Amino acid sequence: MKNRFNLVTVLFLCLIGVLTACEPAAQQMVSQANEPKEAGLQPLAEGSPNEPMPIVLGFSQLGTESTWRLANTRSIQDAANEAGITLLYENAEQSQEKQFEAIRSFIKQKVDVIAIAPVIEQGWESILLEVKQAGIPVIIVDRMVEMSDSSLYVTFIGSDFYEEGRKAGKYVKDKLTESSKPLGIVELKGTEGSTPSIGRGNGFREVIQARKDLVMLESAYADFTPRQGKEVMKKYLQAHGGDIRLVFSHNDDMAIGAIDAIEEYGLEPGKDIIMVSVDGTRQALEKLIEGKLNLVVECSPLLGPNLMQAVKEIMEGRSLPKRIVTPETVFTEVTAVDEVENRPY
Ligand code: AHR
Repeated sequence: MKNRFNLVTVLFLCLIGVLTACEPAAQQMVSQANEPKEAGLQPLAEGSPNEPMPIVLGFSQLGTESTWRLANTRSIQDAANEAGITLLYENAEQSQEKQFEAIRSFIKQKVDVIAIAPVIEQGWESILLEVKQAGIPVIIVDRMVEMSDSSLYVTFIGSDFYEEGRKAGKYVKDKLTESSKPLGIVELKGTEGSTPSIGRGNGFREVIQARKDLVMLESAYADFTPRQGKEVMKKYLQAHGGDIRLVFSHNDDMAIGAIDAIEEYGLEPGKDIIMVSVDGTRQALEKLIEGKLNLVVECSPLLGPNLMQAVKEIMEGRSLPKRIVTPETVFTEVTAVDEVENRPY
């Protein structure tokens, strides 16, 4: 019994000894971690007080439907890289539901800012409320959202689609001299419910309605793709043939599809049928020079630098204008010549 008591006492004293020996080492580790490191001796950990964490931007892109869209994504990725901003990119493949999923995942990941290129205008109020409650600022890019509460986003960066439609309409009024007979127009619209389709369609009509001889024969959605542009144009030609004097296409990709359909039908695009389009891709400028397109209204996809600037300013606590409009021009067969070689998309 006495022996067992001695063994327990010895073990207890050893344990005290070990703990006492360890204490200074533990204290040393803590104090070392708090001491400023000597420059050049050890690499600084990311996010240390001397090197701020990079800004994280979650970007919900609506899809990959057109040449414009691919250039837009590239512009945003390149600009983020250059600005040292970490970009989380999600492609929604034309689905608003997928955009909601992407936005919810950005909230979970606690990004600093969320940018959204919305596929359609309606239905954003409740998801943007979720983002607001998470305390994350939102930038709307390219297309707009329809909502009563404008406090749900900081700024909208993109083109003036209504003005683009007006530019197209003004050209049509100048190009087609007044006639006693109706001059048939067909329209290739992009995605139903999307800002460019609504804005371009309204702007165009607002200008041409002043002329009674300019008659809209057909107007249908072709989703901004060359394949659907060609399909819809084929139907228009079957229904109206030579009565079509002019095509107004809401983007270059659909216009390229329509050119194919017109040539297959045996007519000359640009001559038998006047061709007006929007965007300004390299391929469209080449068609202008060939005489197969007559006018291209520019819509710039290069929104990346403006977006990164806005992200930085938000993070610095500065206030931004509610609307940042991209400056744009129009291209004809003459001005396309100077531009085509340098066109990055
Ligand atoms: O929202 C911009 C439009 O979307 C472009 O005109 C079109 O090409 C794209 O798909």
